[in-house]
Amino acid sequence: MNEIHYSTRRQKLLDTLEEGVVILSSSSPQTRSNDTEYSYRQNSDFYYMCGFEEPNSILILLKTPESTRSILFVEACSAEGALWNGACLGVEGARERFSMDEIHSTLEYSGLIKEILREHTALYIDFLDDSSSVKLAQQSVKELRETRGVKKSIRAIHDVTYLIRSMRLLKSNEEIERIKHAIAITASAHHQAMRECKSGMKEFELQAAMSYIFLSNGATSEAYGAIVAGGNNANTLHYIDNRDLLLDGDLVLIDAACEWELYASDITRTFPINGKFSDPQRDVYEKVLDVQLRVIDAIKPGVKRDWLQQYSEKLLCQALIDLGILKGEITPLLESKAHKKYAPHGIGHWMGLDVHDPCPYFDDEGESLALSAGMVTTIEPGIYIRADDESVEEKYRGIGIRIEDDILITDEGCENLSSMIVKTVEDIENLMMNKEGICVHLMKTY
Ligand code: GLY
Ligand code: MN
Ligand code: MN
Repeated sequence: MNEIHYSTRRQKLLDTLEEGVVILSSSSPQTRSNDTEYSYRQNSDFYYMCGFEEPNSILILLKTPESTRSILFVEACSAEGALWNGACLGVEGARERFSMDEIHSTLEYSGLIKEILREHTALYIDFLDDSSSVKLAQQSVKELRETRGVKKSIRAIHDVTYLIRSMRLLKSNEEIERIKHAIAITASAHHQAMRECKSGMKEFELQAAMSYIFLSNGATSEAYGAIVAGGNNANTLHYIDNRDLLLDGDLVLIDAACEWELYASDITRTFPINGKFSDPQRDVYEKVLDVQLRVIDAIKPGVKRDWLQQYSEKLLCQALIDLGILKGEITPLLESKAHKKYAPHGIGHWMGLDVHDPCPYFDDEGESLALSAGMVTTIEPGIYIRADDESVEEKYRGIGIRIEDDILITDEGCENLSSMIVKTVEDIENLMMNKEGICVHLMKTY
C-alpha cells in the first residue's frame, strides 16, 4: 500500500480531534514457551495508521490548533539483534521508506513523551494497551500535574480505537484487493480439501492440505485457527482439535482461511466426507444455503445490520419449522428464541485487517449501523443438531452445517467476493467426484 494511504488516514484521524496527543504502540512479541515466540503479527490499528510491521515501535500523532505532526519511533538496529532475528529497518531505513514528519529510535521515546505531553490537553490511547509506552505516558501525565509552572496539562484521556475503527469500516480499493487475494488462495485450499477428502483420513490431514496451499502461495498465515470438524464435531462452534477420524457417511465442516498482507478472509464450507450428500444432509444443507442466498440478496446500502440479523433469524426459524425440527407457529417460536438452540450465532461480522474486524456495529446514538459501499461483512448462517438431541428426528442428529462467504457492499447492492468457491450440492458433488470442476488454480505470487 502506498505511503499516501497512511498519511491520508493520519490526517483524517487528526481532523476529527480539536487538539491532543495520540499514542499507538505496536504488538509485543509473545512467548510461546521458554525462549520461543509465536510468530509476530502487528497490531491492526497501529498498522492501519502507519503500515510499519516491526515490533517495539510507537506512533505518536500530534494536533495543535495550528498544526499536526506524525512521529514514529522504531527499534534501533543492533548487531546482536541482527545475529539472532535478522536485520531490522532501523531509524535510517525507516526514514527512507516512511513519510513521517519525524522518525526516532524508541530509545528517545521516554525523553520526548514528557516534552510532548506538556504542550497538550488531551491524550488518546487504546484503553487496552498495557505497553510500556502508554504506561510511561500515563506516568508522565501524573508527574506533570505535580510540577509547578507547566502551562498545559492533560485533562482528558480518550479511547482512540473507536475513531480508528470507524475509519476501518470503509475499505479502500487497495484493501479490497488484499482481501480478494486472501480469498483467492483460500478458494484453492477449500477446493483442494474437497478433492483430497476420503473417509478414514484424520481431520488434521485436511487442515494440512489447506495449510500447504496457504503457505505455498505466500500467505503470511492462517487468518484464525482452522476448524476442521467431522460429523458431530461441527456442533462445537469453535472446535479446533482437528484430530478425529473422518467417517464415511458424515459431513465435514471446514471453517479455515488465510491472511494476505495482514488482510483476512473467512470461509466455511460443509461437504460429505464420501462425496455424496445423504437425503437428510441435503435437506438441511439446502435450507442453510437458501437462507444464505436470501440474506446476501437483501444486502445493499442503507440496510441496517440489526435488520439483517432479524431477517436471517426469521429465515432460519422458518427453515427449522420446514424441516420439522421446530414445531409450531413462527411468531411465538421467534419470540421465545426457540431457533437459537439450533442456530445460536450471529449472521456475520465485519472483516478486514482482523477476521473479526472490531469496527462499530452501532452509531453514536446507539442505532444499528446501516450498510454502505466499501464495508465487508461475512454472511454465515448455520444449523447445528447435536447427536444426542433426542427431540429431533434421528436422521438429522449429528448434522452441523455452516456456509460462510465474504461480502463487499457496493453502490448497487453487494458483491460476494468468495462466490468462486463451490457451494451448491451439485457443484460440490461434481468437484468431489471428478476432482476437477470449478477450481481456482494456484497462482505464483512471488
Ligand atoms: N472463523 C470465525 C468466524 O467465522 O467467525
Ligand atoms: Mn466468520
Ligand atoms: Mn469463519
